[in-house]
Amino acid sequence: MNILILGSGGREHALAWKIAQSPLVDQVMCAPGNPGMDEIGPCFDVNPTDIGEVVKLVLQIEPDLIVIGPEAPLAAGVSDVLRARGFDVFGPSQAAAQLESSKAFSKERMVKYGVPTAAYRNFGEGEEAAAEAFLETLTAPYVLKADGLASGKGVSILDTLEEAKAEARNMLGGKFGDASANLVIEEFMAGEEASLFVITDGEGAVYLPAAQDHKRLGDGDTGPNTGGMGAYAPAPVLTDTLLAQARREIVEPMLAGMAADDMPYQGVLYVGLMITETGPKVVEFNARFGDPECQALMAGLTGDIVPALLAAATHGLAGNEAAFEALLDLRHFRPTATVIMASKGYPYKYDKGEVIAGVGAARKIEGVEIFQAGTDRNGNGDLINTGGRVLAVTAIGDTLEAAFQRAYLGVDVIDWPGGIFRRDIGWRVRGT
Ligand code: AMP
Ligand code: GLY
Repeated sequence: MNILILGSGGREHALAWKIAQSPLVDQVMCAPGNPGMDEIGPCFDVNPTDIGEVVKLVLQIEPDLIVIGPEAPLAAGVSDVLRARGFDVFGPSQAAAQLESSKAFSKERMVKYGVPTAAYRNFGEGEEAAAEAFLETLTAPYVLKADGLASGKGVSILDTLEEAKAEARNMLGGKFGDASANLVIEEFMAGEEASLFVITDGEGAVYLPAAQDHKRLGDGDTGPNTGGMGAYAPAPVLTDTLLAQARREIVEPMLAGMAADDMPYQGVLYVGLMITETGPKVVEFNARFGDPECQALMAGLTGDIVPALLAAATHGLAGNEAAFEALLDLRHFRPTATVIMASKGYPYKYDKGEVIAGVGAARKIEGVEIFQAGTDRNGNGDLINTGGRVLAVTAIGDTLEAAFQRAYLGVDVIDWPGGIFRRDIGWRVRGT
């Protein structure tokens, strides 16, 4: 079969790499892809959120399955249009993807289905005074979230009431444009975070090993929030007992509730968890794989992911979960670490156009794979940086510690003086 992947980030490169290894797959195609994905299969210069362009492409190449990587096309309704044209699509409908594209929608669903999450209220235009009054009823730190998509940057956590009130006014005043025209203010949850990924056809569900992301830019979890600077899997913080609790209290009621409300969720549900004293609570849902969690998960999986993706897209998962878990070979998942190399200045304005050498040499290290994101080729054919997050240096090992050591060996072989990265990815499990 032929599979089309929409997107151009490290997540999509890792998906393309993994999918291409399936014996079921003849060809992986990407739109728009990146120089790394270009080595796997043909890339088409199509904007994945432009519904017209995407439809034109799929009518021309007729893929057997379309995997939507990023959130923007899901929020734009690309999956609905492709399904209406008769294509099999891995990715939720526009309605179901609101679990990510609207924080207010997502919170409302969690409350309706009795799913544990931080207490909250939302505020819209002209409700500055109400937002301030609500903040006064809370205790520090204060959590403010832009309602809409803001590339992982729409959340502010503030220590003083004064700062929180000012930020509420800023957000409602258009700090993130339309994305913050509505604002969610919620209770702070203390604990350690984990990312859980559930492949689902709306009814049945297959759980991948939990991963842990590193959202802050700097060592020691300091500096601004980013899309994610590194990840590892499995994340031991989500013990079997906690996973069972998360399934029972979070995932099962969400999937059942969404289906009952005529918005069955098909694709991968990303459950951002806070492991609190009373158990797992939801920080957020996303409608896609995490980036860079996906890079770690794809590298660590020893089995075939294509059957599960296809079954999620075609309602074939429910009742057959054990078979798909066996095909994924989840019992032999390899400990994996991934370290992001980013452009200097990220997550703000960053440098571009610097030559990056050593990717080939790093890939020759046993167990190391490099997934590309914000890269391109210059006129001489050299790899250069063009985006914020640029490379995901990913390694498997017999233990997590071995995986981390290899990933950093890979980072050291990359010759890119301008690149920035964290030295302490995995500190919670490495004991450093
Ligand atoms: P989000 O985009 O909702 O995942 O938020 C980004 C980050 O802010 C999360 O990964 C958490 O580290 C933090 N965060 C969000 N909501 C809360 C909360 N209610 N309590 C504590 N930390 C939070
Ligand atoms: N790594 C966080 C995200 O993908 O949203």
